[in-house]
Amino acid sequence: MASPRPSLGLASGKLILAGEHSVVYDRPAIALPFTRLMARARISSIDGPSRVSSAYYEGTLDDAPDILSGMVDCIRATVDAVGHPHDHFMIQVDSTIPTGRGLGSSAAVAASAVRGIASYYGAVLSHEEEMALVRIAEVHAHGTPSGIDAEAVVATGPFRFIKGAPIIQLPVGRALHLVVADSGRKGNTRAAVEGVRCRFENDRDATEAHLDQLAVVVEDVQDALRDGDTEVLGSSMNAAQRELSAIGVSDSVLDSLISEALRSGAVGAKITGSGLGGCVVALAPDAESVAPLASALEAAGAQETWSVVVHERTVEEAP
Ligand code: PMV
Repeated sequence: MASPRPSLGLASGKLILAGEHSVVYDRPAIALPFTRLMARARISSIDGPSRVSSAYYEGTLDDAPDILSGMVDCIRATVDAVGHPHDHFMIQVDSTIPTGRGLGSSAAVAASAVRGIASYYGAVLSHEEEMALVRIAEVHAHGTPSGIDAEAVVATGPFRFIKGAPIIQLPVGRALHLVVADSGRKGNTRAAVEGVRCRFENDRDATEAHLDQLAVVVEDVQDALRDGDTEVLGSSMNAAQRELSAIGVSDSVLDSLISEALRSGAVGAKITGSGLGGCVVALAPDAESVAPLASALEAAGAQETWSVVVHERTVEEAP
């Protein structure tokens, strides 16, 4: 049989608007795709053993280093799932999503590979199958992922997520303008999640209270999105940041970017993702305030900034 034609799989970055960490403890969270940053996997036929090519490694799947073991397991499970476990192929992965910044890099790379392989073989995977395959890579990267990243990197707009339940698409009453700023420092999701687990075990009542408060914020964020209410969304983001600080996942660099955002006109600002490095997200009062806010964050030390317009079913960068 002739080899299939080369094919591409795509997935985007992601932003968590509210509920990071508390989502691990069965509270709701709200996330959205960040389509300005993308992961892409190109699958093509080769002779000889299957190979992977990425920024980190170029060689056979069999010889891939431990750091890629989650990806390799995910790729092998996907070719199994589509009924081609013994085929030979090349998978070339590239991604514009910076790693370790809470922007969904590991989930997006895995999702692009799963989608690319499925499309290469003309297979149709259900959403649940796709999520289960991405989870294989995420477990290696994070330990006990809630699954929100895997959902967000293939989502089409903002959604509400609870671990183990289908996502719910959220209405957005009016376009909202975010600025994402990269501290330039890598976070470590596994370590941040373990830090919260430690607090949870050592001081359960206080930690539960913070997690409950984060769940209340999620409801407020959901209402603010529906109403297109910038003020409520901003104050909810600030409330989320207070709780995230209290559970130990912010740090002085992230705090100072957040203070700078608020000084420079942001209506609210918080970390996004697991924290202890990575990015902050700030809400601009309107489209005109986006550029000055981004400039202020860069002047305050952000390595890079991106603007994001939140719409109902698509998310795209500001002009
Ligand atoms: O991958 P990160 O750093 O964006 O973290 C994902 C969000 C957490 O709630 C911290 C972990 C999880 O599995 O939900």
